[in-house]
Amino acid sequence: MKILLFGSGAREHALYDAILKSPLVKKEDIYFAQTGAFAGGNIIDFDDYCNLAKKARELGIELLIVGPEAPLADGICDVFLSFGIKTIGANKYWARLEGSKSFAKEFMCKFDIKTAEYFVLDDYLQVDNILSKFEKPPVIKADGLAQGKGVYLPKTFNEARQIAKEFLDGKFGESSKKIILEKRLYGRELSIFSLWDGKTLLSFPPACDFKKLLDDDKGANTGGMGSAFPCALTDFEKNEVDGYLLKLEKALKNSKADFCGVIYSGLMMCNDGLYVLEYNVRFGDPEIQSVLDNFCGDILDVFIKMTQGRLCEVKLQFSNEPSYCVVLASEGYPVSPKKGCEIFNIDIAEKYGVKILFAGVKKVGEKYYTNGGRVLSLVKSGKNALEGIYKVAQEIKFDGKIYRKDIKLR
Ligand code: AMP
Ligand code: GLY
Repeated sequence: MKILLFGSGAREHALYDAILKSPLVKKEDIYFAQTGAFAGGNIIDFDDYCNLAKKARELGIELLIVGPEAPLADGICDVFLSFGIKTIGANKYWARLEGSKSFAKEFMCKFDIKTAEYFVLDDYLQVDNILSKFEKPPVIKADGLAQGKGVYLPKTFNEARQIAKEFLDGKFGESSKKIILEKRLYGRELSIFSLWDGKTLLSFPPACDFKKLLDDDKGANTGGMGSAFPCALTDFEKNEVDGYLLKLEKALKNSKADFCGVIYSGLMMCNDGLYVLEYNVRFGDPEIQSVLDNFCGDILDVFIKMTQGRLCEVKLQFSNEPSYCVVLASEGYPVSPKKGCEIFNIDIAEKYGVKILFAGVKKVGEKYYTNGGRVLSLVKSGKNALEGIYKVAQEIKFDGKIYRKDIKLR
């Protein structure tokens, strides 16, 4: 079988490694649409998704697997399906679960899924009136996609007013011409990835993402500086999660959600139960790096069964040991990461049994250079896995390297 994998970060590298383990595909039959440092030679140049789908069909590609959100929001799966190629990823309509926070909120409210109280607005003149409804400064979110940067947690009402103005003035272009103001919640965050084939929802156990740049959850919000899997849950928390997933499945069924892909629930466990902070329609990066390292089955077989509407036959199995991912990032991340620094000692990972996944990396000849904010994901499973990961984190060198030293199960 021939496959096209769309995306070029560490999440896609993790998917690639997992797919390569499957006996159902040969390395030379995996194609890429973007040049990741991990990608083999099969890169397809394209002008637009129609052009890409046409080339994919000519090559005999039967399955598209999409990593990032932007192509899903742009409707890449609709295009490929119209060319008769099966897809793993939401269609354009359902990608709005991630691409429009107001759409996601309406979906949650319609199906009685617990989420923070909120207001939607598109006019700065409404801001004072809406702020007056909150006891504490609310969270401010751009309605549309903003590369993970569209959420602010202001400390004062004045700051909230100022951020609302910047957003509505077009800080994120059209994506922030509409904004959400929502009640700030407090609790532990969990990421749950669910597979959906149009009939069945099958979920991975919760993973945890270390979103803040610095140790002890200090510093700026990032795309994620590390992950651990699985999260330990109390009986109360487990009940909350199970109840929530049943509601989500029912909501998707009742909405006749006609896609085959991933739903990522960004959740917060609060004193009074589990709340949904956001939906994404892709796997989370870096959580999927640790989840897939722990996964014991054939992920490609799971994807194929999904496209056949046979997800109900699948059982997901995991190792009994925990899995971890620590991200090495560049100085300046997440605002303006330094690029172009040579990366030394990548080979050391093998000695410690640590898997290296490439994100912001450029390969020139045999040398590797930093080329983005999050540079490498270091992944390993096992009771003592963190020791090996942190040895490698120390020994890999590049100018301005930063990483969190406190990744652990929680
Ligand atoms: P989102 O993209 O909506 O998940 O928001 C990104 C991050 O902002 C989340 O992972 C949380 O850390 C934080 N966040 C979002 N909504 C809230 C909320 N209502 N209360 C507290 N923190 C939030
Ligand atoms: N780890 C958070 C995200 O992928 O959005």
